[in-house]
Amino acid sequence: MTIQWFPGHMAKAKREVQEKLKLIDVVFELLDARIPLSSRNPMIDEILTNKPRIILLNKADMADEKVTNEWISFFAEQGLQAIAIDSQAGTGMKQIVAAAKEMTKEKFLKMAAKGIKNPRPLRALIVGIPNVGKSTLINRLAGKHIAKTGDKPGVTKAQQWIKVGKEMELLDTPGILWPKFEDEEVGLKLATTGAIKDTILNLQDVAVYALRFLSEHYPARLKERYSLTDIPDDIVELFDAIGKRRGCLTSGGAVDYDKVAELVLRDIRTEKLGRLSFEKP
Ligand code: G4P
Repeated sequence: MTIQWFPGHMAKAKREVQEKLKLIDVVFELLDARIPLSSRNPMIDEILTNKPRIILLNKADMADEKVTNEWISFFAEQGLQAIAIDSQAGTGMKQIVAAAKEMTKEKFLKMAAKGIKNPRPLRALIVGIPNVGKSTLINRLAGKHIAKTGDKPGVTKAQQWIKVGKEMELLDTPGILWPKFEDEEVGLKLATTGAIKDTILNLQDVAVYALRFLSEHYPARLKERYSLTDIPDDIVELFDAIGKRRGCLTSGGAVDYDKVAELVLRDIRTEKLGRLSFEKP
């Protein structure tokens, strides 16, 4: 589902997240491991202010592992802990809980020092842009299926706490935030990875961006996937080569550029070109 973000929606989304934060000890900022900057809300520091935060690099199963490790170091240098996870398979879930406990340890020690004998579980909230995997992660942590709220800012339902083991509770509705979509390259990266739907941007524009990126950063994979002996510098020639190899042709026998664009983007999103990262620190 694609959200149209208008200034009013953004203000409301920000307000809603800030309202939830009052109940929360720690925030999980969910990012796409393949595009950690482009999948980040541009106002996140302002929205979260001083809340303890853990960055979760989701869909790490689809990202270049070496690059993901570089991102983890990059965030560490900024004083932010980042953990690579795969919400679909459930990789990294124990680490998330352990990190949240560690981050809130002092707060709970203080509560104990004040004589609170049975402290409540620590309370966490997941925030992130649409399609980053918030619902998948909530379901994974909950160990059951929780219905997805309409992916629209401002759609509310009664909030509930989901128990994650004995020591953590998670708010069942995530905070939905907007990406930095006014930047064209951010939009192209979001579209390449499938975070924004194909109807918003021109399919061929997205494929041109993706193929240029792959030619520069993953040429061997591109050659192998489409049986190319070399990669033409000219993007139209590259479309032609792939189209001929893979039979993306019109009824008249010419290369069908829309079909090529669709094929390449589908191949990227289904990992036919292997694990790819579209941003490096
Ligand atoms: P949202 O709540 O943040 O909007 O995202 P949601 O959980 O709906 O996830 C968006 C898409 O990303 C889903 O795929 C989901 O399966 C996929 N996804 C989430 N986490 C991971 C992950 O760690 N690894 C991988 N590989 N994929 C992940 P979809 O195609 O929209 O739906 P479906 O395939 O589940 O039917």
